[in-house]
Amino acid sequence: MPASQTDPPHGVMQIIDRHRHREGPLLPILHDLQHVFGCIPMQVRPAIAEALNITQSELHGVISFYHDFRDEPAGRHVLKICRSEACQSMGGAALGDRVLSLLGLGWGETSADGRITVEPVYCLGLCACAPAAMVNGKLKGRAEAQALVAEITA
Ligand code: FES
Repeated sequence: MPASQTDPPHGVMQIIDRHRHREGPLLPILHDLQHVFGCIPMQVRPAIAEALNITQSELHGVISFYHDFRDEPAGRHVLKICRSEACQSMGGAALGDRVLSLLGLGWGETSADGRITVEPVYCLGLCACAPAAMVNGKLKGRAEAQALVAEITA
């Protein structure tokens, strides 16, 4: 039978079926989908909600609560800057503003060439070395805007 335009992309139902009978199936489903697609595509959301018998607004609430889940795939390089209290008290807000200004991006945005995404994160476990950031998965303590931008654009 040919796929209709409303059918979820290939592989989505296998991911849902792999987890749907677990206790707490939603987060494992979302993690697997983001691993495969780089985000939680809008067109897969109705299938998830229907399979788990939850409303789409409940699903949206979970996806938006966890900042790691994306609506769109990230750029090839990802810079995360901590926005939590310990980092804010050590200049985290100014660090974030300066990095965004240098890159010409807003929080969660990806550069037009698809190269760089800047994302907020809420504690990286590096509070003692605040302000903290992460460049392509590598933690950076006592982060400084110019150095972060130089590394992410290198
Ligand atoms: S508050 Fe920023 S790393 Fe913990």
